Amino acid sequence: MDSKYNFDRIINRRNTNSSKWDTLAAKYGRDDLIHLGVADMDFESPEPIIQAFNKVVNHKIFGYTDLNEGFYKSIQTWIKKNTDVSIPRDWIVFCPRINIGSGICVDSLTSPNAKVLINSPSYSPLKQAVVKNNRSLIEVPLIIKNGKFTMDFDYMESVIDKDTEMFILTNPDNPTGRVWSKDELERLAKLCKKHNLILFSDEIHSDILADGVDHYSTLKLGQETHERLIYANSPAKTFNIPGIIISYMIIPNKELREKVEKSIDSIGMHNPNIFSVAAIEAAYNECDEWLIGVRDYIDENEKFVRVYFKENMNDFIVMPREGTYLLWIDYKALNINEDELLNWFINEVGVETYMGSNFGRFGLGYIRINIATSRKLLEQALSKMKNAYHLIKRK
Ligand SMILES: Cc1ncc(COP(=O)(O)O)c(C=O)c1O
Repeated sequence: MDSKYNFDRIINRRNTNSSKWDTLAAKYGRDDLIHLGVADMDFESPEPIIQAFNKVVNHKIFGYTDLNEGFYKSIQTWIKKNTDVSIPRDWIVFCPRINIGSGICVDSLTSPNAKVLINSPSYSPLKQAVVKNNRSLIEVPLIIKNGKFTMDFDYMESVIDKDTEMFILTNPDNPTGRVWSKDELERLAKLCKKHNLILFSDEIHSDILADGVDHYSTLKLGQETHERLIYANSPAKTFNIPGIIISYMIIPNKELREKVEKSIDSIGMHNPNIFSVAAIEAAYNECDEWLIGVRDYIDENEKFVRVYFKENMNDFIVMPREGTYLLWIDYKALNINEDELLNWFINEVGVETYMGSNFGRFGLGYIRINIATSRKLLEQALSKMKNAYHLIKRK
């Protein structure tokens, strides 16, 4: 572990109005569960971000703020460093959350009868962005080839018709942890061009990569793809600041960009909150070392969890993780249904994880575990599972 950062420390997050540690406790009627569900980290954010916030707080005036030069510059620098693509300032569109941006894009860029494709299993709010805006959601089940999830291009071709207008991608993929290869992305881009689909690419997990894995951004796919690309990202996952509510889109095509900007304007979404710009400047300019440290720690957590399951509960099969701090785990060998497994987790183990159906019907047979937490807490959670394993094995 990098000695400079103490990711081992268990920080009590109960009674902080945390979606992960408090809201779900209320849902299950008990406050002693270990929570490995909601995708935020149990680590303190990097010091430069804390200092930037302290500066805002110590000034003691919380007036309206605007997007400044630093906001745009920080994003341009970060994108250049990570993708080697230079982004003109006017391609960057501020949006408080990707979950808001995805809905706005579906609503403003597709027609009322449009069909929108998404790989499945998939992060539920992206699907809801389609359903809640009254478009038809077409789920494209991922297939497993050589032990890895892959996109099913044949299936895509078979379901795309004249009403299909958008493809929503997550890269890295939540929940499967895949980081799509250049080849896969080029194939997807080709398909989008052939059928004139807008490509909405949510790359929020792209900074959290497993050791040795490179991320290939859709921004690198060149001008033909830029014509139809909405790229969405945020420092929220990377630096553990999702509560700040800050994201951005990069929209190279002027016509698409203006439609999205108009829609954002029409709902009065004008100013970022006062911590947003401070956060993005500190995160993207001063926190590289912390990011290396946290990635290493997550890699070690993954190794630990993988070995633990193999040695003690081998009916849980951990799928390969290329990116994200989430592990997607196959429990089909247990031959039980999701309700039974949930009951076991909550009432016999005392650990909360996400059940696969949260990611749609193609998620059934899997659970998702968030490993961005102290190793000691993971140890406690796994040991609780191990102690109760015989209760689920017998079924
Ligand atoms: C793939 C993906 N997109 C978006 C989000 C949420 O982003 P935001 O907080 O900016 O809405 C998450 C959070 O888990 C996510 O996993």
